[in-house]
Amino acid sequence: MSEASREAEQVEIALEEGQEASTTHPNPHIREVAEQDIGSAIAVAGHPIHAMLVHFPIAFVISTLGIDMFYWFTGDAFWLAVGTWSAGAAFVFGVLAAVVGTAELLAVPGIRVRVASWNHAIAAMVMLAIVGANAGLRLFWPETVLPSGLMLSVLSSMAAGFAGWHGGKLIFDHGVGLLISSKG
Ligand code: HEM
Repeated sequence: MSEASREAEQVEIALEEGQEASTTHPNPHIREVAEQDIGSAIAVAGHPIHAMLVHFPIAFVISTLGIDMFYWFTGDAFWLAVGTWSAGAAFVFGVLAAVVGTAELLAVPGIRVRVASWNHAIAAMVMLAIVGANAGLRLFWPETVLPSGLMLSVLSSMAAGFAGWHGGKLIFDHGVGLLISSKG
């Protein structure tokens, strides 16, 4: 049996056994990815700043949906104003998170080389575009919040879930951005 077919067989066995990507994986391409550094570069005392920031856009996006519901049920202009602030905050914090996330993506070789990182980045940019449209609509055409703003809020909540899910996969499936403390 040739070296190449022996390697292909080993890869097949590893995949059948559900073996995780690691530095000992029989597939050289997976080994190459696994050997790259995945520690966070944009961090404070080992705590990734992106992971600290992302809670804010997610919380504001979901809050905007709740606020739109209150506006829909009550018709009170107070909720219209609150929704404008909430959608604006979602966009501002989303841009901040995206700037730090992009710096992380470009700075860390092990993050850059993973397809999952780019999937997450694309999902996050789609989310940010919808959130930006939602904030702009409230600023310039507040009379269209029902139904257009509400629909954008539903869409951006779904996009936030999708982008957040893919961000979580980077941490929990790929171990990106983790620094194992020597204090443990
Ligand atoms: C282009 C923009 C973005 C890029 C390139 C990016 C990149 C990354 C990277 C590299 C990680 C791994 C953790 C780290 O190293 O800090 C991550 C995690 C994550 N990202 Fe992003 N990100 C972007 C925007 C966003 C946005 C706008 C959100 C908000 C929905 C978001 C939500 C998350 C979440 C929830 C995690 C997991 C954090 C954790 O569980 O601790 N990302 N992202």
